[in-house]
Amino acid sequence: MALCVFPPTKYVNHYYHFNSKRTKLSKQQRVMNVRMAASFEEGNLERPNWAGETNLSRLVGALIGFKPLYSLLKLGARQVLISTAEKNNVRWRDMTKEILESDVYDEMGSVQNTSIVYPDYYLNPFHAYDEGNLSWLAAAEAEAATMSISKRAIPDASTVDEANEIVRGNWLNAIELHHQQYSGNLKIRDILDIGCSVGVSTRYLADKFPSANLTGLDLSPYFLAVAKYKEKKSPKGTNSFQWIHANGENTGLDSQSFDIVSIAYVLHECPARATINLVKESFRLLRPGGTFVITDNSPKSKKLQELSPVLFTLMKSTEPFLDEYYLLDLEKAVKDAGFVNIQTVLTDPRHRTLTATVPY
Ligand SMILES: C[S@@+](CC[C@H](N)C(=O)[O-])C[C@H]1O[C@@H](n2cnc3c(N)ncnc32)[C@H](O)[C@@H]1O
Repeated sequence: MALCVFPPTKYVNHYYHFNSKRTKLSKQQRVMNVRMAASFEEGNLERPNWAGETNLSRLVGALIGFKPLYSLLKLGARQVLISTAEKNNVRWRDMTKEILESDVYDEMGSVQNTSIVYPDYYLNPFHAYDEGNLSWLAAAEAEAATMSISKRAIPDASTVDEANEIVRGNWLNAIELHHQQYSGNLKIRDILDIGCSVGVSTRYLADKFPSANLTGLDLSPYFLAVAKYKEKKSPKGTNSFQWIHANGENTGLDSQSFDIVSIAYVLHECPARATINLVKESFRLLRPGGTFVITDNSPKSKKLQELSPVLFTLMKSTEPFLDEYYLLDLEKAVKDAGFVNIQTVLTDPRHRTLTATVPY
């Protein structure tokens, strides 16, 4: 059984980045960070054995095909999600209300590209929302849902903020280390965050690279409206931001116009054909020497391999492409697109971060 230690102790980030503030960690917090880093264990399998078609997934598929039962399951799943988040001090209902009662709606006109053609996979019900990501409710709840992911990954963290800082901090460190190692001379001026959602990952990237111009791109104009609204409300930092409503598979942006392209927690929501297109498009958009980074669930995670198959099969009912995600050889897709220096590490107990370079 492999024990993946990341980041190496000497590279453990000793700073928190939260709300644009940099706060020096206490010795106790640093010790905890190292302890967390040391417990990222790989399982014995290449991927969880609940991935792919199983008798259980066929049974669940048939059951949720029966609409009244699906509606009941959806409702139950939603209530469990919200109450678990609130037990972990994520102010889910308050955060949602704040957005829904704000002026966020005014941002729609300036972010929406009315001529966009959505890919078919994006128009399915998703995450227990009938309109998938194309609704104000999904957009208003997205930040709370994102915060809950980190707490699930680091259940021992004493607060959600601490869990977030470990999960996001290790991902950011992986990018920085990769870029320093393989692209040392290429200054980080332009960063693209594909699937930026409501801009949480974009803001973390901005804090890590304070002189960069940030572009957040997403298929949901509702999410982008929230991202823009929150950006306007935040204290002005040194970064510039732009929000683009487009398909990451075919962005229409200029070739070789970014130094870093990041895709965070997007691919498990996409069919394999879309993932391959997103990787190819990222290669086209990066400058020679540019760094590509993907972070998402790790098929090799011991924690994920040990999840109850029943629980996971139910999860598959609200995330229809999980099987394709776990079955795809992501490193091969990245290599086939032309990237070099491909490295994958477990950056927390559940998630992998893959980094790669566009050759000079
Ligand atoms: C889980 S969210 C990403 C969260 C965010 N990157 C973070 O780390 O906080 C996944 C996002 O991917 C977006 N998405 C899915 N397919 C996409 C595509 N082909 N092009 C652009 N965005 C896409 C969805 O709209 C959604 O906002």
